Amino acid sequence: MAYETIIVETRARVGLITLNRPQALNALNTTVMKEMVEALQDFEADGAVGAIVVTGSEKAFAAGADIKQMQQMSYIDAYMEDFFAGWEAMTRIRKPIIAAVAGYALGGGCELAMMCDFIIAAENAKFGQPEITLGVMPGMGGSQRLTRFVGKSKAMDMCLTGRMMDAEEAERCGLVSRVVPVGDLHEEALKAAGKIASFSLPAVMMAKEAVNRSYETTLAEGLRYERRVFHSMFALDDQSEGMTAFIEKRTPNFRHR
Ligand code: CAA
Repeated sequence: MAYETIIVETRARVGLITLNRPQALNALNTTVMKEMVEALQDFEADGAVGAIVVTGSEKAFAAGADIKQMQQMSYIDAYMEDFFAGWEAMTRIRKPIIAAVAGYALGGGCELAMMCDFIIAAENAKFGQPEITLGVMPGMGGSQRLTRFVGKSKAMDMCLTGRMMDAEEAERCGLVSRVVPVGDLHEEALKAAGKIASFSLPAVMMAKEAVNRSYETTLAEGLRYERRVFHSMFALDDQSEGMTAFIEKRTPNFRHR
């Protein structure tokens, strides 16, 4: 399938999606949204793919929603097409998605990274929600997801001043899981995704679902949910294989991958 704004490849069991609008620092227009969702859904349906990496260029993961597309938009246009709502399809992907971020991840770029399951950042990464400088506010989840990642004080700071934070600050406050040298970013992200893809896919998907549940429920309900899902894992061949392989001191050969 040929795409206009993204490059889609597979590396062993990892699906790799690279944003490819260099002339606009990978700004996210409607075509990017549609193509990204389609590529993710294809990987979701592909039994040969166990994890997905979303990345951009060394200069920009994505510098935000496309300001040139939005400049002339009216309220009625935005409301009637439920502008940005299409991105929510990304959060219904059940396989794990890693964002590999170098350079600018601003506005919608930061929000896209936060829609992935975790973020690996290059040392040159810069995160921000600068919408306030354009006379608007985040619209792809920034005011909600950033607050859950970094807490109220820093989320307010980022959304109200529009300042950028570097990779070190992003790691310190829990926005990114790890920081790596720029030249190692793709290798590290593909390695992490490859490792995830080597495990039992149903176990990986259930773990992702359980962590995500913690965002939407109380601790008591979340713990109950976790325990029930954990119990159900004893119906998986892969539980038996994983534990037997440990005892037999060999690498597990998971059936459901
Ligand atoms: N939309 C459309 N085009 C963009 C863009 C964006 N978000 N960001 C950069 N570009 C374009 C520029 O217009 C420029 O194109 P031209 O050469 O045709 O003028 C090209 O990409 C290169 O950009 P710069 O010349 O500005 O590059 P720079 O290195 O000097 O600056 C930057 C880099 C600091 C990231 C700067 O481009 C910038 O501030 N970009 C906008 C960041 C922003 O405000 N993002 C939020 C968008 S709103 C949003 O995302 C809403 C939401 O909640 C989803």
